[in-house]
Amino acid sequence: MSHAEHPEGTRRDFLFYATGGAGVVVAGAAVWPLVNQMNPTADVQALRSIRVDIGGVEPGTQLTVKWLGKPVFIRRRTEEEIEAARSVDLSALPDNSAENANLPVGTDGADENRALSDDGEWLVMIGVCTHLGCVPLNEAGDFGGWFCPCHGSHYDTSGRIRRGPAPTNLPIPVARFDDESTLVLG
Ligand code: FES
Repeated sequence: MSHAEHPEGTRRDFLFYATGGAGVVVAGAAVWPLVNQMNPTADVQALRSIRVDIGGVEPGTQLTVKWLGKPVFIRRRTEEEIEAARSVDLSALPDNSAENANLPVGTDGADENRALSDDGEWLVMIGVCTHLGCVPLNEAGDFGGWFCPCHGSHYDTSGRIRRGPAPTNLPIPVARFDDESTLVLG
């Protein structure tokens, strides 16, 4: 058969192949993110653990870094902040749990179980409100720690929820010191 006798047939063949090709591309695009998640590349693996230079963080200030897509608060607390955090009666805590990934589940919420250093100076937390995920403001709120203005959650100087709708304390991620000025997250 010639093109002159069946012009429509020739065009249909062309459209079939074009559509088939586009279909493959779309399927590939839909599948790729899943495969990518299941086979993290070396780059993604490396980002699961990051090193942070904390040498320049002064007492009474906070460094915020982004890790695994979330803000992490690294606060070097003052004596007053540590004292305030350690003088709290644990029965006053809405969430009396350390929420500390470095300690067993069920560890109580004493400040000693949340601070990263024994002297209490360093507090490292995921900076995401446990209510609905806003980023709390530091040195704010009724307890001098962090305040989430979205719906009014007040956290103390240990990052523990004290008032408002947030159900749990700000979580402590897996973290350790590599040397006195290097923190490793993850
Ligand atoms: S998201 Fe923080 S109080 Fe609602």
